[in-house]
Amino acid sequence: MAALWVMKSIAIFGLKGGVGKSTFAVNLAWASATLSARRTLLWDLDPQAAATFLMAPGGEPRDAAQAVFARHVEPKSLCRPTDVQRLDLLAADPSLHGLERLLFELGKRKRLAKLLRGLESHYDRLLLDCPPGLSETAEQVLHAADLLIVPVTPSPLARKALDDLATLLLRRSGRHPPIPPVFSMVDRRRKLHLTALADHPDWPQVNYASIVEQMGSRRLPVGAFAATHSATGQFASLWAAIERRLAKDGG
Ligand SMILES: Nc1ncnc2c1ncn2[C@@H]1O[C@H](COP(=O)(O)OP(=O)(O)OP(=O)(O)O)[C@@H](O)[C@H]1O
Ligand SMILES: [Mg+2]
Repeated sequence: MAALWVMKSIAIFGLKGGVGKSTFAVNLAWASATLSARRTLLWDLDPQAAATFLMAPGGEPRDAAQAVFARHVEPKSLCRPTDVQRLDLLAADPSLHGLERLLFELGKRKRLAKLLRGLESHYDRLLLDCPPGLSETAEQVLHAADLLIVPVTPSPLARKALDDLATLLLRRSGRHPPIPPVFSMVDRRRKLHLTALADHPDWPQVNYASIVEQMGSRRLPVGAFAATHSATGQFASLWAAIERRLAKDGG
């Protein structure tokens, strides 16, 4: 039973930009806090701060997010409650623009993994929103996450793209967390998408939907303003699959 209370870290990760990573991070964090009633932290590691923008309307940008990695600031001291019950946010801020350089100079690839230990007694689930690409931040995430979620837009090359990523990560770090595949921004009017879906009918899917785009103006997870919409159902199903996977892997 004790394993049920072990914090698990899920990183939303990928080489490509604009494929729905931050959208996944926010909605999966909502599902964790709301549907699974987990104490959840969304940690925005991307200086673009999209997840922070979506979750923290009116929040004052500070300049402390990078100092966590230099060990000048405790991560917990930066965690703030959101409007979603049980969901806290560790916001990105402009200081993260210097994070790549700091991590390179530190040369400690497990710094993030160590920082997460200080959060274990506070949270059950941690969602990490990562910047795109194989950055120093990505290297940290590879050592810290229990699961990588890589949103893949449907194309016949989707399987190859994921396999190539796994090979690259293995070469780079010697290991990588499991990468259960997921389709993002599915548009069933497009023939290429239908072909890719037919190749992998078992992969979870999140459709392209204007209600998801509305998150940008409402600044809320889609489940918080459209609880019965199919998009909310798709994020809920994806989250349930992630919980099953974590349970299978022992947590
Ligand atoms: N399922 C979807 N349906 C419609 N629009 C979507 C969907 N997912 C994401 N978007 C929109 O696509 C844009 C990019 O999404 P998002 O910021 O989540 O991508 P990202 O992978 O995090 O990008 P980056 O690599 O720049 O961090 C946003 O405007 C978002 O609202
Ligand atoms: Mg993003």
